[in-house]
Amino acid sequence: MKDVNILSIESSCDETSMAIIRNGCECVQCTVLTQMDTHAEFGGVVPEIASRMHAENITMVLEETLTKANMTMDDIDAVAVTYSPGLLGSLLVGVEFAKTLSLVYSKPLIAVNHIAGHIYANNLEKKMEFPLLALVVSGGHTDLILMHGDYEFERLGGTLDDAIGECYDKVARVLDLKYPGGPNVEKMAREGNHTYELPIPMNDDTYNMSFSGLKSAIINLVHNETQRGNNIRKEDLARSFQDVAVDQLCRKTELALKQYDVKHMIIAGGVSANSFLREEIKKVTDKYGVDLCVPRLLYCTDNAAMIGAAAYPLYLNGEFADLSLNATSTDEIY
Ligand code: KG4
Ligand code: ZN
Repeated sequence: MKDVNILSIESSCDETSMAIIRNGCECVQCTVLTQMDTHAEFGGVVPEIASRMHAENITMVLEETLTKANMTMDDIDAVAVTYSPGLLGSLLVGVEFAKTLSLVYSKPLIAVNHIAGHIYANNLEKKMEFPLLALVVSGGHTDLILMHGDYEFERLGGTLDDAIGECYDKVARVLDLKYPGGPNVEKMAREGNHTYELPIPMNDDTYNMSFSGLKSAIINLVHNETQRGNNIRKEDLARSFQDVAVDQLCRKTELALKQYDVKHMIIAGGVSANSFLREEIKKVTDKYGVDLCVPRLLYCTDNAAMIGAAAYPLYLNGEFADLSLNATSTDEIY
């Protein structure tokens, strides 16, 4: 069969990214232009600035991607783009750019969900085998998903309130760490010990999870200790938080592996970059003899390679979008 080259675009948050993905699994080129330093000055992503920067940079990112791949639009079989979920203004830049490329170069257009992208990032490492258990951990999602086949998602459960990434970012703020919080909390936790007692969330036999109680407990603890004039041992608090948060994910994962006979487990989303989480989940999958796959760091955080990988099954199925495609901030795949 002839090779299929998909040009993919991701602009849902603060990364302008484009990639060329061959046959859904081989990354020919992936360019990521991050706006992180600009948003760090504000302590978080400023949506208006993010969309403006996407608009300023997206053509240069296309040029760099094609040049580095030594390809032209003639070599491209389809254009894929993240249409949801994310920041509306940011998504719109990518979607309109993709529609223009599709129209001008007569290429089929593929609409990809960002969370499907995080899941399919794993196909860039090793082809996913079904039934598969996916732990989705990002800034907006924390879910356990059973996949029966391509795009066949069954949500077993997940957070009832905050997402784990959101919680990492809030804890980072309380600890005076810079944006993006997650990686900085992980770094700090490595230097500390689990000495603070924190509430254990959802210690039950359901797939429900919760992170807001843990977050509030940390905010209150820091507030109370500061009021009393006591110093916070930040490294120890970061470690105590991370232990409790990751333990909840491990307990729920173990529940699923006990109940379902899966061939493969994957971790998806920005928090999958966390090495402590990767190590702890590996202990659980090893116990149940299940193969664990986690994307390399570049494919854990937002990137267009994962969007090209997620677009491939849609390409094979002829599931194309037309020029009426619109960006939406909250579409869910499961
Ligand atoms: O998937 P992602 O890049 O964006 C969304 O789709 O939401 O995830 C971003 C989230 C942020 O909350 C960030 O703090 C968190 O992933 N994150 C981490 C780490 N790297 C990124 N959290 C904990 N440890 C990390 N190493
Ligand atoms: Zn993401």
